[in-house]
Amino acid sequence: MQDKVQSIKAEISAATANSQEELEAYRMRFISKKSVVGELFAGMKDVAPEERKSYGQVINEVKDLAEAKFKELIDQLNQQSAGTHTDHIDLTLPPVSGSLGSVHPLTAVRQRIIEIFERIGFNLSEGPEIEDDWHNFTALNFPENHPAREMQDTFFIEKNPDIALRTHTSSVQVRVMENQKPPIRTLSPGRVFRNEAISARAHCVFHQVEGLYVDENVGFADLKQTLYHFAKEMFGKQTKVRFRPSYFPFTEPSAEIDITCMICGGKGCNICKGSGWVEIGGSGMVDPNVLENCGIDSTKYSGFAFGMGIERITMLKYQIKDLRLFTENDVRFLKQFTPMS
Ligand code: DAH
Repeated sequence: MQDKVQSIKAEISAATANSQEELEAYRMRFISKKSVVGELFAGMKDVAPEERKSYGQVINEVKDLAEAKFKELIDQLNQQSAGTHTDHIDLTLPPVSGSLGSVHPLTAVRQRIIEIFERIGFNLSEGPEIEDDWHNFTALNFPENHPAREMQDTFFIEKNPDIALRTHTSSVQVRVMENQKPPIRTLSPGRVFRNEAISARAHCVFHQVEGLYVDENVGFADLKQTLYHFAKEMFGKQTKVRFRPSYFPFTEPSAEIDITCMICGGKGCNICKGSGWVEIGGSGMVDPNVLENCGIDSTKYSGFAFGMGIERITMLKYQIKDLRLFTENDVRFLKQFTPMS
């Protein structure tokens, strides 16, 4: 008996646990009911009554020793595993680099347009995408029942009074003129909406940028020079601009703006339909009725305005042939673009 206790004590003192499995093996051997220590307790019934007291003392000592050792082994193991974690961080490893996104081509081009006009004194303005009839049509000199309203296939939200998704950013012109006194030089980029079937050349949601300059003695020559400047900055020095007489209810005279085709350099290709010219927007002198509708004295002030399609400019700039690529979000397409300057 004495020997057995001695050997169990020696075994306990020498025990180690370098893993959870070894710790569990220790627990099974010395702590659990069926352990060797448990067996010593079970043997109590075979001990003569007069020896029970001293036997009890001896086996309780063994039990205390086993439990103290168990705590010690747990602490050691915890320290070891905390240690192993830090040991395994290799600070010399290069970091895993996250993949960077790119700037959407429409964003890059919009930014560049803003930059070009800001440098010549235009500020930024914006208006709501859900617009009333006054700002989208009536104040812009679209008479009621005028076919020009039909030209812009409108998404109506409410009828009488009409509320619609704005069909152009010209609505922002009205809002600016209603709220500011000349001189006004403002640029209004934004989303516009038209009820069109989606194809390579048309979409029901697209972007325009509107420009407006109102002051004393603003003339058509100012409009031309401003857009010449823009075209050269945007597309390069060799770019030519052509103004084609046109009609818009809110400008008089009105002109469509063409630039030399970027794809063929003006020689003629299927994008410019052989003409060497591509259209980028509309423009004109603000109709005096529009100035008056917005509370600006048309005998004192005059102004020019223009509206250009951001998708159109981006397609020309990057030779993109299908408008749908802008909204498909194919990363192989998007990854090719970086901010411009
Ligand atoms: N709002 C016209 C459109 O969406 C474009 C436009 C033409 C804007 C002439 C103008 C302008 O400011 O003067 O087709």
